[in-house]
This record gives sequence, structure tokens and C-alpha cells, in this order.
Amino acid sequence: MAQLLTLSKAARIVGVKRDILQVKIRQGELNTFEGLLNLDELIRLYPHTQVEDDFMLERVSNIKANAIHKLRDDVDSGNTSILSNKIQEMRQALAEERKNIQILSKLLDSIRVELNERGQIKQTELSSVIEQTLASINTQTKDVVPISYSEENNFYTNNINLKPSSRHFPIDTSDTILEAALKSGLSINYACSDGSCGKCRTKVTSGMTRQTKYHEYRLSENEKNQGTVLSCSYTALTDLELEADIATKSSDLENRKINANVKMIAHNNIATVITLKTPSNSRFRFLAGQQTKVTFPNKKSAVFPIASCPCEDRMIQIHIPSDSNQLTDDLNINDPIEIEGPYGDFLLNIDSHNPIVFIAYETGFSHIKSIIEQAIALDSTNNIYFYWISHSNSSFYFNNLCRAWMDAIDNFNYDSILIDNKTEGSEVKDSASHFYIQTALEYIDNSISHLTLYDFYLAVPNSMVDTSLQFLGARGVAKSQIMINSF
Ligand code: FES
Repeated sequence: MAQLLTLSKAARIVGVKRDILQVKIRQGELNTFEGLLNLDELIRLYPHTQVEDDFMLERVSNIKANAIHKLRDDVDSGNTSILSNKIQEMRQALAEERKNIQILSKLLDSIRVELNERGQIKQTELSSVIEQTLASINTQTKDVVPISYSEENNFYTNNINLKPSSRHFPIDTSDTILEAALKSGLSINYACSDGSCGKCRTKVTSGMTRQTKYHEYRLSENEKNQGTVLSCSYTALTDLELEADIATKSSDLENRKINANVKMIAHNNIATVITLKTPSNSRFRFLAGQQTKVTFPNKKSAVFPIASCPCEDRMIQIHIPSDSNQLTDDLNINDPIEIEGPYGDFLLNIDSHNPIVFIAYETGFSHIKSIIEQAIALDSTNNIYFYWISHSNSSFYFNNLCRAWMDAIDNFNYDSILIDNKTEGSEVKDSASHFYIQTALEYIDNSISHLTLYDFYLAVPNSMVDTSLQFLGARGVAKSQIMINSF
């Protein structure tokens, strides 16, 4: 059977940059199979490739990255039996620590729920809540799964093929199937992500899995016999084929209200960035590009785009523009915040094979950040361009992150467009908006040729929408290639 590789892995194996392989794909010298490259074709094109060496080097480098300093003496002395015993001891210790974290996390959630419901709680009642919760948790977690992968499978990356969509994604054995799918920008079914709801049930039609996290939800014997597993609690020991649907539009997701807590507040020139954390048993499922209604402790509400990646476990990031400062004035770390949703269909078209241009004006970055991360995670062969527009240098408030993306990812290009508006009539808001976006689009048109080849995602003020549509339409870009989220 043909061995298929992601573009990044293929580039590493043959020792060339990703964009060189992208050129060969465009010129028809290399074929892609649903975004993956065939190893045999690569070897034909690059006959010097030492495949075995590469896989061995990869394995060694992964082992090095995961090595623990305590073991170094035994490694150097080559005493494999001491080494093996120590690894076993550490796996056991890690399993125990995971169990303790689970217990503490559930205990905190129970106390938080009681406090939310009662407003205040007496010391004796609190003791009783703690005792009852601990008793119930101890029963649930007594069979916590020890970490005991066979060494030969411990450091591999496997590939997962989803049916019926035929989407592929890589998985490290340190990730669950759900974590790996979300990191690759694919939203397979889930709700709690901690093994209690059963919504992530998926049928494995080929390959081997292993349970890596305790799950409270009990699969029936029939489900087990049919190869059903919980994607939030299992990893892949080999390449897998799974039956799992992918959410691609807002109607695929359930609307929920969740009580989260403020974990971080950071102010910059044009926005306040807050990071929220949801309870361990209530994950907020959303698609990159969607929005959430946020209700603050002062009972004021507003809808904001979710700027974090759906893969970031329980963390939700929101950027609140400075003109809405009254919402966050009294906000403190650990304050409760209700989030509701998700809403909106400003989503990445994952079926399109066009290169992508993202355009954001100032805090429009928060509308587009998670979609950029999804486009990067999908590891497509297409180029991605991000143009961030502002009239003030201090408004590129995540400039370092964008530069880091550009440094790390061969097909990602970032350009901040600073527009100094000295035109007559610029004090009139709409006129200034027209000038900003017109100037920026002209710059983009000069930077990349053939705009008709691209998909455009714009997050710009309402006053810039008409000019944007007219400009792109006049250059032959079809309406179906233009996605706009205005604010
Ligand atoms: S997501 Fe709830 S059990 Fe897996």
C-alpha cells in the first residue's frame, strides 16, 4: 500500500523547503492525494532520499525531546534494565498524578457549582460537599488507566482517515484522537471532552487504538465488539480508519450556555484581551471564526468573535475593543462569565483548494485569528497571506505572533499595512474608511498577482464593505470567493 505523507514531513525527508514541493505540485511533477504526497513519487523525484535514516532520525529526535534528565546516567551506561524499570516507575507516577489532578479538578467544579447555586455556603455545608464529592470521585476513578504503551509505539506519528469525508490528519501517540483532530482544524463530534458524555463515540473500522484517559461513560458490549471507542479517551497505535462526521457549519453544533472564569486580562492600545476557562466537564464547542455571547458579572452582555483555536482545550480568548471598555472596567481574575453560543457562519471553506488572502482592519484580527490558525493547521499545500491594516503602528497588537507564524510556516505570509491618512476630507468617517481599504487593496493587488485565483476572508468595519466588494468584483473575483465579517 502506498505510503502517504504530509507536505511538511515530505519536505523534511527529501531535505527541501515546502514551497519547492508546492511548485512541483503546481507544475504537475508531483501528485497529491487528498492533500498528501506519495512516498514512492518523492523517491522517484529525489532518488538520494534516505527514508529509513529519516524515520530513525525522527524517532531518535522525538526520544531526545521526551527524555528525562534523571535517566541520562543510565542511558550513558547502557543499562537497559535499570532504564526500563525507571520508565515503568515514572509511567506509574504520571498515572497517579493524572488521577490526582482529575480528582482535584472535579472537586473544584463541584464547589464552584454549589457556590453558584447558593450564593454563599456555610463551613459545615462546604465540608459535606467536599466529603460527598471525594467519595463519589474515588469510586469513579479507582480504575484510572495506567500509562503503559509498548515502547515501540511510544513515539510514532500515525495517520487517521475519516469516513465518509476522506479527511486525513496526523496523530502523535501522546494525543487523544479528539485532540489530534482539533489540532488539525477538524471538528469531530464531542461535548465534555473528559469521558463522561459519550458524544465522541466513533467506530474504528481499521487499525489499533489504546485507551489513555479514564472515562466514566460506559460503552455497551455491543459497541465494544463493533470497535467503538471514545475519541476523547483513546489514541492511535497504528494508522486508523474511523467513522466520524465533521462539523462544517453552525447548524452542526449544539447551542450551549456555560459558566466560565476569567483567567487572564491584558490591555493594549485598542483592545482588552481576556482569556476564559470553562469547567473541566463542560467544553465550549465551536468552529474557528464563530462568535459567542458574553455576559459579564455586571450583567451586561455583548457578542464577540472567539479569537482562540477550538483545539485549545478549555481556554477561550476574546478581544474587547477599547470603545467597549465599560464592559470590562471592573473585571477581575476568577470572575465568573457566562458564554453562550456558538453563533455565525464566517467559516473557512475547507473544501476549497484556492490559496487564501486574509484581510483584517485593527481589531478585525480577533474575527480572523482562529480561521488563520485553522488554515495553518490543515497543512494544505496552498499559500496563505494575511494583511493587517491600521492607521496606527501601535494597533498591530499581535504583531509578534503573526511574525512567528511567518517564520515557522513556509507557506504563510504576513504583511502589516500602515496607512497614513492625509487626504482631504479624511475627518469624515466614511471617506477615511474608503481611503484606508482602497489603499490597502491596491497594495495587495500589486503584491500578489491574479486575484481571481484566491479566496478572500475580510474582517473590516461596515463602512469598508462596499468598497471591498467593488474593488474585488472589478478585478473579476467571484462573490463565492469573498467572505466578509463586518463589525
Ligand atoms: S466528549 Fe464526552 S465522552 Fe468524549
